[in-house]
Amino acid sequence: MSTTFRPDLLHGKVALVTGGGSGICKGIAAAFVAHGASVGIVGRKVERLEAAAAELSARGPGRAWALPGDVRDYATVEGIVDGLLERAGELHIVVNGAAGNFLCPAAQLSSNGFRTVLDIDALGTFNVSRAAFERALGQAGGSIINISATLHYGATMLQVHAAAAKAAVDATTRGMALEWGPAGVRVNGIAPGPIDDTEGVARLLPADQRERALRSIPLRRFGLIEEIADVALFLASDAASLITGTVIVADGGACLPQGMNLDSMG
Ligand code: NAP
Ligand code: COA
Repeated sequence: MSTTFRPDLLHGKVALVTGGGSGICKGIAAAFVAHGASVGIVGRKVERLEAAAAELSARGPGRAWALPGDVRDYATVEGIVDGLLERAGELHIVVNGAAGNFLCPAAQLSSNGFRTVLDIDALGTFNVSRAAFERALGQAGGSIINISATLHYGATMLQVHAAAAKAAVDATTRGMALEWGPAGVRVNGIAPGPIDDTEGVARLLPADQRERALRSIPLRRFGLIEEIADVALFLASDAASLITGTVIVADGGACLPQGMNLDSMG
């Protein structure tokens, strides 16, 4: 394994990663395991989750457990946190990455469609953070990392639901940072831009718009899953010990307001 970080960065740490069965959050769980952590990964698709846990455990040196369930249901989430505590005895790091999104004009979006995305992203983030704080982090401290987006910094067509959900996630990050700081709990977010080889890009960026999207990104490329995992490693580690209540944007500069046409600059 090649890594920018010390290979034993998270040795002895226990993490819970929702959405860890696929995409960006599987990459985060993999990076945690590769740096020595024990990680519970959460999702609804049991088979995919178990395959991911087996794959990560085989790579080591840490290990992964599949903890299936829906983050929208608080009783389920309590069971998941208890299940991880039974296996690992402690919990230090929570990554809230479970999310739902699709393209839909607001005028055609059903009330239940809007609520579903809010429930997965925002209520799910609250549920998992709340249960983890009550059962472990509130006593021993720790780090919560909420996976957000940049959709709500300006306005994003066809994603009123997801933009509203991520705005709520960011507000939750700041509020919990304020309230839980005295208990030694840091709460931060990561706002990725478009990340290659993910469900997010597959669902939200039609293939014929890829070139145009690339031209609007100052670094002229999409991100890699590993680059978001590196930000998560940093926020989870002692190197970020003074950082709480902030959201780190990792998007190659994509959400910078652009006052002139970059195309004309070559
Ligand atoms: P993804 O692979 O589809 O990840 C979403 C995960 O959430 C899946 O593993 C899914 O597993 C899980 N999930 C969904 N609903 C759930 C529920 N109710 N309970 C438990 N788990 C649930 O997508 P991704 O593109 O990697 O996105 C990961 C995160 O990055 C999301 O928070 C997303 O908003 C954010 N993000 C992504 C991009 C991007 O370019 N991809 C950009 C900005 C932000 P199950 O279906 O098995 O439940
Ligand atoms: N366009 C418009 N509305 C949609 C939709 C779409 N593409 N997909 C789902 N909806 C609506 C449904 O019609 C339903 O509303 P209704 O009852 O008024 O008809 C509502 O959303 C809930 O749909 P359902 O399929 O029951 O939700 P679910 O909880 O099973 O799945 C989703 C949640 C819809 C977000 C699903 O896409 C999912 O599981 N996503 C996880 C992966 C993901 O989104 N990854 C990208 C992360 S950036």
